[in-house]
Amino acid sequence: MNHRSWMRSQGFTPEVFDGRPVIGIATTWSELAPCNAHLHRVAESVKRGVWQQGGFPLEFPAMALGETLLRPTAMLYRNLLAMEAEELFRANPLDGVVLLSGCDKTTPGLLMAAASVDLPAIMVTGGPKLNGKYQGADVGSGTAVWRWEEDLLAGRMTQEECAFAEGCMSRSDGHCMTMGTASTMASMAEALGMQLPYSATWPAVDSRRYETAQRAGQVIVDLVNSDLTPSQVMTRQAFENAIRVNAAIGGSTNAVIHLLAIAGRLGVELNLGDFDALAADVPTLVNLQPSGKYLMEDFCYAGGLPAVMRELGTLLHTGAVTVTGKTLGENIKDAPCWNREVIHAMDAPFQPAGTGTAVLRGNLAPDGAVIKQSAASAHLLKHRGRALVFDSPEAYYAVVADPDLDADENTVLVVRYCGPKGYPGMPEVSNVPLPKKLLLRGVRDMVRICDGRMSGTAYGTVVLHVSPEAAAGGPLALVRTGDWITLDVPSRTLSLEVPDTELGRRRAQWAPPPPPAARGWTWLYTKHVQQASSGADLDFLVGGSGHAVGRDSH
Ligand code: FES
Repeated sequence: MNHRSWMRSQGFTPEVFDGRPVIGIATTWSELAPCNAHLHRVAESVKRGVWQQGGFPLEFPAMALGETLLRPTAMLYRNLLAMEAEELFRANPLDGVVLLSGCDKTTPGLLMAAASVDLPAIMVTGGPKLNGKYQGADVGSGTAVWRWEEDLLAGRMTQEECAFAEGCMSRSDGHCMTMGTASTMASMAEALGMQLPYSATWPAVDSRRYETAQRAGQVIVDLVNSDLTPSQVMTRQAFENAIRVNAAIGGSTNAVIHLLAIAGRLGVELNLGDFDALAADVPTLVNLQPSGKYLMEDFCYAGGLPAVMRELGTLLHTGAVTVTGKTLGENIKDAPCWNREVIHAMDAPFQPAGTGTAVLRGNLAPDGAVIKQSAASAHLLKHRGRALVFDSPEAYYAVVADPDLDADENTVLVVRYCGPKGYPGMPEVSNVPLPKKLLLRGVRDMVRICDGRMSGTAYGTVVLHVSPEAAAGGPLALVRTGDWITLDVPSRTLSLEVPDTELGRRRAQWAPPPPPAARGWTWLYTKHVQQASSGADLDFLVGGSGHAVGRDSH
């Protein structure tokens, strides 16, 4: 009576308590997360579907993580969302959950939670924005900002022009419409089998976004009835599919960290090396910014993710089970492609196999680092240069415009203490802009090395996720300005040309930075966060505990 009576205050009729599945709709809606600001409307469509199929829908908030406003970085809070959502899924009397996400961290955060609880679950991402339109041309969110920032610094654009362009770039609901992290993770959710076919690509304002949400509401009731849970969908085979799809779409390097973290929750064996090995024979098929030309709206009209997966054919495990209750192969078998400029064929790919995310190792990154080859400059993939070292992005920004900065196009910019423990939270700062004096000379790319991340919308020859990070005592902490560094992407190596004896001497002089916080979430995070090479989850959150609660105290 307690449970029912209190719920009746919302005006439900008594039949909702007749034993039908109770479906939680976890929404990361917030006006502080603009990419997710329409999710309360998406939730209404999900509810329609749940009612239609004989379920009882209840919407509730989960922490919204907006990439653009949160300080110091939304990544600091991905694990907090995952922890909050996990506890909400388990503590409430739910039979299944619909996960509403959009902006970068909300998709992996909710998938991590669903994996640890293992209740039947389906994801509905909020969809990308419509293409930006500025001065008669398409502009991509994020990607255009990096270019405008450089144009502003080099005097090619005024502040007034920038202010106008901002509005042109963000002209509808939705997440970034480049193949940035949000679009990548939406695609990963679909490739893993956790969201409905085509769901990653319908634009946020397209009526089919709401149609797919309503359909997901129907499907979650079926998933509860058939007890198909995330651990049966997100298997090792599903992760292998996701890694290959990520290579084919030219996806964000952030997918590496997030997939490792989700797999860790499920006990699926996955490591950094898998990303290189599995992607090695996968060409880039999708011509989307930042690696290519088009945007998510074009990708949708060209046939969306099913068309890409159909093209990959036998490279995928087509027998993998998905939330449709059918196999991946059944879902995509008739998927048409309508535009070969946007979705290339396997025999005429956009970029050849082996140009996706590469994993580098060497004495500068003993546990690995990654580089997005498709966003890098071909002439820099093998490069030897002198290090110019900064202990924070802010220290670099303080001198970026200095005409006397001791740097040329061969210099290797090292920006460190940006890892999970270091900043903290591993921000997307690795693609620092080039020194102003080099931009004015027309230099458009340099090798940059960092233990932080790079936005999925960004480009450049940037070595990321160096592990162990500087703040954890990784060799990156020992580099000094003037040291020679060799990057050899074809050989997958990153080497610091300093003898071990000298590195030992430097290590003896090195002291870890003081902890960034003495209490609260940041204290807990920095004490327990794992390195990027393991997914940057908190050590005590790895794995799962199912959805049974030990004791109902009420
Ligand atoms: Fe939210 Fe890019 S800022 S998806």
